Amino acid sequence: MSILSRNLVRHVIYFRHVSLNNMDTLQNLSFYIPSKEDGWAVSQLINACPPLDSNSVYCNLLQCYHFANTSVAVKLEKELIGFTSGYLVPDRPDTLFLWQMAVDEKMRGCGLASRMIVHILQRQHCESVQFIETTITEANKASWALFQGIANYYGSSLSKQLLFDKEKHFSGHHDSEVLVRIGPLSRALSKAV
Ligand SMILES: CC(C)(COP(=O)(O)OP(=O)(O)OC[C@H]1O[C@@H](n2cnc3c(N)ncnc32)[C@H](O)[C@@H]1OP(=O)(O)O)[C@@H](O)C(=O)NCCC(=O)NCCS
Repeated sequence: MSILSRNLVRHVIYFRHVSLNNMDTLQNLSFYIPSKEDGWAVSQLINACPPLDSNSVYCNLLQCYHFANTSVAVKLEKELIGFTSGYLVPDRPDTLFLWQMAVDEKMRGCGLASRMIVHILQRQHCESVQFIETTITEANKASWALFQGIANYYGSSLSKQLLFDKEKHFSGHHDSEVLVRIGPLSRALSKAV
């Protein structure tokens, strides 16, 4: 199978959750680099997406300002319905760490989260990225499925190890966070999509 056909298959697989009814809606989504003007709406969206930890609005403003090139916002008309914050790991610029991902409940299951990750990675700013990292709690089934799908999409393996322990690092107040690492990424394949 040629690279083009293989990517066509991947593209179809990506959108298999989308019914004809919401295809129009998906075409009207805009994915863009966030700015300070998005900070407040980001904060509202994160607050509405448990189990994400709420941040201060100030933190969300910084995500939209200092980390804008490695973050993405998604709007449906004027409403923010998706947001992902990320950064290049200090001293490891080949690694994109995805901090928080949120998709409005009414838009879930359409491949939006997956598209946000691909969108960030296609930017020139992320040319050097070979690995994706994030942390996930064991119970977050949607996130595990999301990142396994991303590993498959980039033809990469996914490894995991405990990073922040419930007792040791959260004093029993937060579930353990498992570090997920995906890579090296097959960039040639993803760029053709
Ligand atoms: C996690 C989240 C961002 C996924 O967004 P999404 O746009 O619905 O994700 P996608 O449509 O791209 O789906 C990705 C995968 O997750 C699966 N999935 C989605 N919701 C799921 C659920 N509730 N249970 C199990 N799997 C689920 C999809 O089937 C898909 O897997 P597949 O490709 O193997 O079929 C969204 O559910 C969310 O905002 N959750 C609350 C906040 C959160 O947990 N953030 C992530 C922290 S790491």
